[in-house]
Amino acid sequence: MKIFLDTANIEEIRTAHSWGILDGVTTNPSLAAKEGRPFEDMIKEIGELVDSVSAEVVSTKAEDMIKEGLKNSKIHKNVYVKIPIGTEGLKAISALSKKGVRINCTLIFSANQALLAAKAGAAYVSPFIGRIDDTGHDGMQVVRDIRQIFDNYDIKTQLLAASIRHPIHVLEAAKAGADIATMPFKVLEMMTKHPLTDKGMQQFLDDWNKVYGKK
Ligand code: E4P
Repeated sequence: MKIFLDTANIEEIRTAHSWGILDGVTTNPSLAAKEGRPFEDMIKEIGELVDSVSAEVVSTKAEDMIKEGLKNSKIHKNVYVKIPIGTEGLKAISALSKKGVRINCTLIFSANQALLAAKAGAAYVSPFIGRIDDTGHDGMQVVRDIRQIFDNYDIKTQLLAASIRHPIHVLEAAKAGADIATMPFKVLEMMTKHPLTDKGMQQFLDDWNKVYGKK
């Protein structure tokens, strides 16, 4: 499974990149606004570090989404244009994907939405697990349903598990066969840790130091 960071913060991206495990980055208008930097500079800088950076449109009409999507796609060769699902979104996805623009269809909350996005030509579909959980429904079930549908029909669109809140979401997404999981930096960092790793390391160092002295 590919690991993406869900952030527009360049320091977090550089840090995760230095660990050698980062496959891509997703941004959204809220994450970009949090950084407050010129949008194009931010996307260009991220595109230099990873093979996939999602840049979302803020237009709401298909015609405007297409113009904005084309503009975003030219910021860097690694851009995936993020477009929200909906009738306007589907029109834009269909037109842009025919022009060779790679699309990440976002704000997916049901497997039916994912099926339509895939049919329109999206390269990724992004179900929002955490936000579904927040409504009292099972976000991971949507991921499982999408996986089953895509496998039934040999659909090549990649399943990108988004709105991940904790490491168990990542584990469950991997078990459900998600192609990609995008997560905040703090979740990725948590995945590296285990109390027994820290304890074990301390013990190895203490035993070593007793005999050989401190390095
Ligand atoms: C996906 O690409 C979105 O940017 C993101 O995962 C949304 O997550 P949130 O529900 O934590 O805002």
